[in-house]
Amino acid sequence: MAEDYQMPKGELMRGKRGVITGVANHQSIAWGIASQLAAQGAEMAFLHLPGMERRVEPLAESIGVKVLAPVDVTDDAAMDSAFGVVEKAFGQIDFFLHAIAFANRDELKGSFVENTTREGFLRAMDVSAFSFVDCARRAAALMPDTGGSILTLTYMGSERAIPNYNTMGVAKAALEAAVRYAARDLGPRGIRVNAMSPGAMKTLSLAGISGGRGMLAKGRALSAMQEDTSMEGVAGAALWLLSDLGLSTTGEVIHVDAGFHIMGFREDEAGEG
Ligand SMILES: NC(=O)c1ccc[n+]([C@@H]2O[C@H](COP(=O)([O-])OP(=O)(O)OC[C@H]3O[C@@H](n4cnc5c(N)ncnc54)[C@H](O)[C@@H]3O)[C@@H](O)[C@H]2O)c1
Repeated sequence: MAEDYQMPKGELMRGKRGVITGVANHQSIAWGIASQLAAQGAEMAFLHLPGMERRVEPLAESIGVKVLAPVDVTDDAAMDSAFGVVEKAFGQIDFFLHAIAFANRDELKGSFVENTTREGFLRAMDVSAFSFVDCARRAAALMPDTGGSILTLTYMGSERAIPNYNTMGVAKAALEAAVRYAARDLGPRGIRVNAMSPGAMKTLSLAGISGGRGMLAKGRALSAMQEDTSMEGVAGAALWLLSDLGLSTTGEVIHVDAGFHIMGFREDEAGEG
């Protein structure tokens, strides 16, 4: 986030309670989104990976988040316990942000066909796609009859072959399909389920991908707007989808990538004749 940027303040989330996953540090996309939701009056719980307390607790405190619980999403008992903490604190929730992904470093480089192992593939699918299904089920159980909103984060490597993204691209494709099936199942209960697809952003997760810096530079150079994806833009789109502004939008994958996904090739590469 730009140091001097103030998330727009307002009342759009006043009276709403929800859960944020995926805050690891101040660069996390989940942190940008949580800051925007707090500026609009949301009350939140943070579920974070065990061991991240030192970084996560001061961030939570700075925006008035008092409910925190550790969770490794691959551990059923830890999931029971973390959602138990949320239920005890809030009773019901109105929104849920899933901002979790993982693949082994060795799978995020070079040849997809050569480097993908059974163990690595299943782990990426478990943490990055199945965890969303599990979270959606548990979050929906805490949502009132009036409905709610669930949001996850994906990347365009699900739709096109992006260098080094490999196994994660396959997991993101599964995640996006899961969003549509969950939207169908939960729609009759008034629960909306969407994914947002930001362009490359400088976070811990990006650092784990071979050539992550290149993804950033290419994302900027090849985007329609020829600029980086901003945290403010991502947080604003999340506010739309997680608040009542997002009513009637469900099952969608919303790109917030400065127009990276719409481009074929650039004007100056078109050649002449
Ligand atoms: N950074 C980008 O360029 C970019 C672009 C598009 C989408 N995304 C997606 O945004 C989401 C958030 O990533 P980020 O870029 O903010 O990076 P990040 O590293 O800050 O966030 C990823 C989070 O996943 C959590 N996590 C990983 N394994 C977990 C587990 N087993 N249990 C619980 N939590 C676990 C980490 O603790 C971390 O908080 C991810 O789904 C990522 O794929 C990122």
